[in-house]
Amino acid sequence: MFSKTAKYYDLIYAFKDYEKEAKDIKDLIKKEHPTAKSILDVACGTAEHAKYLSREFQIDGIDMEPEFVEIAQSKISTAQFWQADMSDFSLPQRYDVVQCLFSSIGYLQEEQQVVDALICFKNHLNPNGIILVEPWFTPEQWIVGSPHMVTVDLPDLKISRMNTSGLDGKISKIHFHYLIGKPERVEHLTEDHNLALYTVDEMLSFFEEAELNVHYDPDGIFGRGLYIAKS
Ligand SMILES: C[S@@+](CC[C@H](N)C(=O)[O-])C[C@H]1O[C@@H](n2cnc3c(N)ncnc32)[C@H](O)[C@@H]1O
Repeated sequence: MFSKTAKYYDLIYAFKDYEKEAKDIKDLIKKEHPTAKSILDVACGTAEHAKYLSREFQIDGIDMEPEFVEIAQSKISTAQFWQADMSDFSLPQRYDVVQCLFSSIGYLQEEQQVVDALICFKNHLNPNGIILVEPWFTPEQWIVGSPHMVTVDLPDLKISRMNTSGLDGKISKIHFHYLIGKPERVEHLTEDHNLALYTVDEMLSFFEEAELNVHYDPDGIFGRGLYIAKS
């Protein structure tokens, strides 16, 4: 997924206001679970949410991509980060909040994997803990054949990342092309991202199957919605 481009992630996603999103998450946690003190950030990426949330909470994280785990660990010395698959993990600690943000759940292409992940999230909760899941797009929201571009323009580094959006059944297909310009040369890389398009009803049924009580906020923190669940 991100193994060739992990080091560029923060530059490419600079359009996201992680500090503001972290504040929105903090406000939501204060409302849903006022005494919460600890968070597990599942599929934490480079720990940009965790970086800001660690000012208020004890936070740890997991991610599948080893380079993200290294980057995350280098940003927050008080946290522990592990390489793990979100649909099958077991950690020594329990948390007041388990969050899985920025559509990472969509990388689980099998319905059973989503249910398994939600059960893992539940198993890592302290009593009265909450789960926050920010989903990927629904099938109705996904527009096939829509080109996208993100650019980075620094004096010694230029990046242009382009893709068009594809579809194969229920799987959204993204084939990224990266042109990465450095003083010595321009490199071309490609990367495939395949994410399942689950309807809101399907997502709600996965939470039910995991024996979680859930409600859905269609706006969420980044306009992609948010599932808020409790045991
Ligand atoms: C779009 S990024 C989001 C990262 C971070 N949460 C953020 O908000 O920037 C998706 C993340 O999901 C991770 N990921 C994908 N499949 C995973 C899996 N099965 N288990 C754990 N992490 C996974 C990727 O490595 C990547 O860090």
